[in-house]
Amino acid sequence: MRLAVFASGGGSNFQAILDAIQRGELPAEVGLLVSDRPTAGAIRRAEAHRIPAAILPPSTFEDESAYVYALQKQLDEHRVNFIALAGYLKKIPSPIVQQYYGRMINIHPSLLPAFGGKGMYGLRVHRAVLAYGAKWTGATVHLVDEEYDHGPIVLQEPVPVLPEDTPEILAARVLRVEHRLYPKALGLFAENRVEINGRTVTIKPSHYESDHSSRNPYGP
Ligand code: GRF
Repeated sequence: MRLAVFASGGGSNFQAILDAIQRGELPAEVGLLVSDRPTAGAIRRAEAHRIPAAILPPSTFEDESAYVYALQKQLDEHRVNFIALAGYLKKIPSPIVQQYYGRMINIHPSLLPAFGGKGMYGLRVHRAVLAYGAKWTGATVHLVDEEYDHGPIVLQEPVPVLPEDTPEILAARVLRVEHRLYPKALGLFAENRVEINGRTVTIKPSHYESDHSSRNPYGP
C-alpha cells in the first residue's frame, strides 16, 4: 500500500501513521503528503521523514479542473494507491473521490453520524458534544464520499465524556484513540480485509484468525 496523507494542521495522526509503519505494525509506505496550507505542522513532519510534500491551496488554481489536474499529477507521480485524510479541511474534488472510492478514508473525532458534517471540525466538534450533554463521544474512520463525514463507517471506538471536561481535554482524550484507530484501519486495507457492500463495511478475519479457526475442532 502506497499512501498519500492529506493534512491541513499539526499532523499528529500523520505522525501516528509514520510511527506505526516504523514499528513494523502497518505494512505501508507514505509516498506523499498533500497540504493546502504552507504553514501546516504536517509539512515539517514530512520533511523530517524525507517524504515529498505537495502544497496545493485550491484557491490558487484558476478553476477546479486545474486543481484536480495538479492533484492527480502528484498522486500519479508518487504512485499513490490509497489516500488517508488526516485533518484535511478542504473538500476533495468529485473526480478524485470517484477515482479513489473505497481507497480513501478519513478520521473524524466523534461517533458519526453525530457531531459531523460541514463546519464540524477541530474543537467545534468537542464543544458541540459538551454543549449537547452527550455521555459518550469517540472516533470514526470512514470511507470518503462526496459529502462531509458521510461515507460508510470502517471502524469506530467510543470515548467517555467526563464531568470536568473542557473541549481541549476531551479533544486530547479522543486524539489518543485516533492515533491507535487510524493505523489500525489502514492496516485492514493493507491486508485486504475490508469488504464494502453499500453502506456496510465488513472486516474479514486475518489469515492468522482464519487458519486458527480451521484448525480448531470446536470451530464451525
Ligand atoms: C483530528 O481530530 C481528526 O480527527 C480531524 O482533524 C484532527 C487532526 O488532528 N479530522 P492532527 O492534525 O492529526 O493532529
